[in-house]
Order: sequence, then C-alpha cells, then structure tokens
Amino acid sequence: MPSPKIDVRTAAAGTPDFITFFIKGSALPAGVPPEEFDGSPGSLVLLRDKNQRTLIVGLGEKEKIEPDSLRRAAGTAIKHLLKLGSTEAALDLVPFPDHVAPAVEGALLASYKFEGFGKDPSKNKRGVLAKLQVLVTEHELPRARTQAREAEIGVAITNAVRDIGNLPGNMLTPAILAEKAEEMALARGLTVKVWTERHLKRDGFGGILAVGQGSVHPPRLIVLEYFGGPKAKRETPIALIGKAVTFDTGGISIKGGAQMDEMKFDKMGGLAVLGIMLAAAELKLPLNLVGVIPSAENMPGPDAYRPGDIITTRDGKTIEVLNTDAEGRIILADAIAHVRLTYKPSAILEYSTLTGAVIMALGFRRAGLFTTEEKLRDALVAAGKTTGELVWPMPLDDEYKEGIKSEIATAKNIGGREGSACISASFVKLWAEDTPFVHIDIAGTAWTTKPPAHLEAGATGFGVRLTLAALRVGLPV
Ligand code: BES
Ligand code: ZN
Ligand code: ZN
Repeated sequence: MPSPKIDVRTAAAGTPDFITFFIKGSALPAGVPPEEFDGSPGSLVLLRDKNQRTLIVGLGEKEKIEPDSLRRAAGTAIKHLLKLGSTEAALDLVPFPDHVAPAVEGALLASYKFEGFGKDPSKNKRGVLAKLQVLVTEHELPRARTQAREAEIGVAITNAVRDIGNLPGNMLTPAILAEKAEEMALARGLTVKVWTERHLKRDGFGGILAVGQGSVHPPRLIVLEYFGGPKAKRETPIALIGKAVTFDTGGISIKGGAQMDEMKFDKMGGLAVLGIMLAAAELKLPLNLVGVIPSAENMPGPDAYRPGDIITTRDGKTIEVLNTDAEGRIILADAIAHVRLTYKPSAILEYSTLTGAVIMALGFRRAGLFTTEEKLRDALVAAGKTTGELVWPMPLDDEYKEGIKSEIATAKNIGGREGSACISASFVKLWAEDTPFVHIDIAGTAWTTKPPAHLEAGATGFGVRLTLAALRVGLPV
C-alpha cells in the first residue's frame, strides 16, 4: 500500500477534510451540540460546510494529554474519515507544535489496511489516504518538517513490517522471509548475509536446525549490518536480535487448536529487527548496528526434534529439550552466540514473542522488559512513553537460572510454571554471557485482536518505533 504524501505547511491547500483536536473543557466551536460531543478521548463530531468537512476529535482533559493522546485521536479521526471515503486530510497542529510526530504517526498508522487476497478492491468503500497536510505556524515549520519526516519513515517501515507480519504461514516461510528481508535491506544500502541449511550445518547452528527440522520449509539465519557510525565503533556495534518463527505449531509438544492461526505472528520479533534496521538506514542514524534474525517453522514433521533431545548451539553450549513448544529460546540461543562471537557487541537487544506467561503478567498493552542494565532499562521505558509502545520492567536476577538447571546439558529449555516469563528470559540471557543484555517479550503486543484507535486487527509492528526513539536519543552503551 503506498504511503500518503505528507505536506507540512502554514495553511491548507485545496479542500482537504479538516481535523482539529479539542481539549475537554474548552469552549465548544459554533455549531457543536454539547449533548453530542464532550471532548473525551475518542469522541468525534463532524461539521459540514459547503465543500469542506471538519472533524473535531476529543483529546480529553488538558492535564492528561500526552503524545499518545494525539496519536490515538489522529488515528480515530483518520479512520472515521476513511470510512466516509476521504482521500485527503489536514491535521490542524497549530495549537500542538510539540506533538507533530505522534499526530502524524497516528494518522499514518490508522491509514494502513492489510489488503488480503482475492478481495475485489472496487467493493471496498473505505477511502485510501493519498495526501496528509500538516498545518503549523510559520515559526514551527522547520521543526515540524523534521518531526513529520521522522514519523513518516518510522511508520512507513512499521506498516511494511505489518504487511509481512500479516502473511500466513503458507505464504511466508523462512526462505521467503529471507528473500524479502534481503531485497528490502539491499534497497537501503545495508549489508545482508543469509545462512541456508548447508551453512547453518557448517557453522554449528544446532538450535536453528533442530527447531526447523520438522518442517519441509528449511530454516534461515538472516544477518543485516548497518555501519552509519564512527569507524572505530564498528568493532562494537549494538546488536538487535529477533525471533522469527514463521509458524509455531508447538512441534511434537503440539499446541491446542484454539487460536493456533495466531501463531503466524510468532515471527514479529524478527520483523521488528528488520524494521529497525531498515529505518535506521533510511534515517541515516549515526550508529553501528547489526541485526540478526533466526527463522524457522516449528512443525511436527517426521524428522521433528523431540522432547529429550540434546542440542549443541553455535558456541558449544548444550540444551536439553523438554518441550518442543519452547522453541524461540533455542533459535535465539544460536543467534545470540553468533553475534557475540562474531561482533563483540556493546549491547544485545532481543525481541521475541517468547511466552504466553508475559501476557498473563502484563496483558496486551505492555511488553515485558527484562534486563539487569538499569540505564538501558530507563532509556527504553522513556522511549516507550514517547512512542506509546510501552514496556514494563521485569526481573532477570540469577535466581531464575535455578529453573533451567539440567543434569545433562548447559540448560533445559523449560522451568516450572511459576515465574515462567522470567525463567525463559534467564535462559536466553545465558547465551549473552557478559554482554549487556535486554530481552523484550512482545507476545502480548506483537499483534492485536482488539485494536486501539490508531491500529487495525493484526500485526502491530511493535518495537520498531520504540527502538528508533531510543536509538535517536542515544542508547547508554
Ligand atoms: N510462541 C509461543 C509463545 C506465545 C504464546 C506467544 C501465546 C504469543 C501467544 C512460544 O513459542 C511458546 O509456545 N511458549 C510456551 C513455553 C512453554 C512451553 C514453556 C508458552 O508460553 O506456553
Ligand atoms: Zn512455541
Ligand atoms: Zn513460539
């Protein structure tokens, strides 16, 4: 889907549909019946002039307004206008010059729609947003243009990642993911290396191979490099690692049938990493980054790995498999070992739909942030607040390692039920050794079935905007 053209200016050109934001408690504009509109978040009222429509959208009370209020209000407004068939809108941001980025993000995130397959587009009454005008004062123009451009790149890539995320398992195998990642990365000047089965075997990626061996669609390891920072620091880039299980049946420890289709989203950690790398390159961030995406399909085919198997990972550590549905941590172990041995990164940030347990703990609004690095934690929590992609600190103390002690291997791949999100995190951390490590469990946030105002059901692209915001300010590594 093409992104709308963005035009930052001081006055509207032509007759776009107007969107104005309204603070609850301020004087209602003329013609608005007070019983119909009170300015609470998500409330809307449409005024029609001869050839001009104005949509007023509520932000709630002044004291409670934060970036996400504008993001959601803009999303609500755009969705409403698209339903009316609108193709061009203008956001009146004159009163909100500090919130240009979230408002533009909300509008662009809300204009995304997964096209689906075999549907007749002429029967689709929803408009396609072709142009978005952003109105600010003359004085604010330069800053607003920068904010709008950064928002536009972040969202265009988030939406591209959502599009791949929404593809089902039969259309997106590890090999297809690697091809798409390669094409998108090469177009932006990144270096790409893809390991096929033969090279995974040669280099000792026992974890990725084991998880992938029950599927006829072989696994891949995708490595992306972006060196936009100082030469000396090429030696110690920041590493981003993302789980990309293109479909998780659970393998021999097979899952129940309910909502198993949602396990097509088990690749969203890897897609977050792809998105961050692409956007960093497009924004020319002055940083050195390496992105690593281990990808496999977890199937119970004839050669599937089994409970009881012992696997040797890339760095020689071993895993006693006690449940083949705890597969994410196994492919991540290989990827983390590889990045540590090859790049000696200054920090590792890892994204995965790792556990159902994190959903039990935090629900669907916040991702679990597991790290012992306080500065990294604070930076990511702050980035969460500006982007609306919230993360919540969870513990990663050594006590959780007790849960994965094995008599016959470096670790077993499951612990008990209690504290299971933390135990899982401590498993993955073992492979990072002394490298500063952050695990973000996005199982609850990577896709949505009850979308908030600025999103639609399906993949959310969670993690892309969060991490870009943190990288832009500078991660304390
Ligand atoms: N991909 C799942 C985790 C998941 C579950 C994400 C539900 C989103 C929604 C992961 O591979 C998994 O199956 N984890 C198991 C681990 C268990 C076997 C220790 C889980 O969470 O149940
Ligand atoms: Zn699983
Ligand atoms: Zn999984």
